[in-house]
Amino acid sequence: MTVTVRPSTDADLPAIAAIYGWNVLNGLGTFEEVPPDAAEIGRRRATFLARGLPYLVAERDGVVLGYAYAGPFRLRAAYRYTVEDSVYVGPDAVGLGVGKALLAAVIAACEALGLRQICAVIGDSGNAASIGLHAALGFERKGVFPDMGYKFGRWVDLVWMQRPLNGGGSREPDTPGLELNGV
Ligand SMILES: CC(C)(COP(=O)(O)OP(=O)(O)OC[C@H]1O[C@@H](n2cnc3c(N)ncnc32)[C@H](O)[C@@H]1OP(=O)(O)O)[C@@H](O)C(=O)NCCC(=O)NCCS
Repeated sequence: MTVTVRPSTDADLPAIAAIYGWNVLNGLGTFEEVPPDAAEIGRRRATFLARGLPYLVAERDGVVLGYAYAGPFRLRAAYRYTVEDSVYVGPDAVGLGVGKALLAAVIAACEALGLRQICAVIGDSGNAASIGLHAALGFERKGVFPDMGYKFGRWVDLVWMQRPLNGGGSREPDTPGLELNGV
């Protein structure tokens, strides 16, 4: 299957909203319960793009199959070298390598920005696809926070995974990092 990974555009927002909305309504990878519309997805995306972070889509024959991005892990200043990734593939395209192509491209873009850590905060300790995908790309599982969410009538864990970028904490920063000024 020939899949192209490229930066997202405004024209991709309805497809991204559809993929994410399906996961909101059917999956435990996100703890959101009401699907945001394309305009809201666009507002969120703008906050990541404003910091120069990657927000990518994978497409085949002009159809968006999935998307992935990196966002700040937290907004307080000292987190400026750390990002958290998100990756979603449409239900008809899972298991075909799309997620791996997307996440590999997000990792490469974050390394090019001089960042030092990327982490995944994965909804549901039974989320074998996301845990397996992250492990396949060098993330190490660091722990589980049990019962952090309540969705579909049951308690849901968070699985924490982490991957160093550019040597991680082995040396001092050599770039300014992300602009963060939140609380
Ligand atoms: C998680 C998700 C993005 C993975 O994308 P995908 O395109 O299905 O995954 P890929 O086909 O690229 O698989 C990449 C690797 O992940 C692992 N993997 C994928 N699915 C797996 C599964 N069901 N069980 C175990 N490992 C799996 C494998 O190591 C695989 O590599 P391999 O095919 O060479 O063995 C996708 O399944 C998805 O969108 N899930 C729902 C939303 C979600 O939970 N997103 C993550 C939020 S943190």
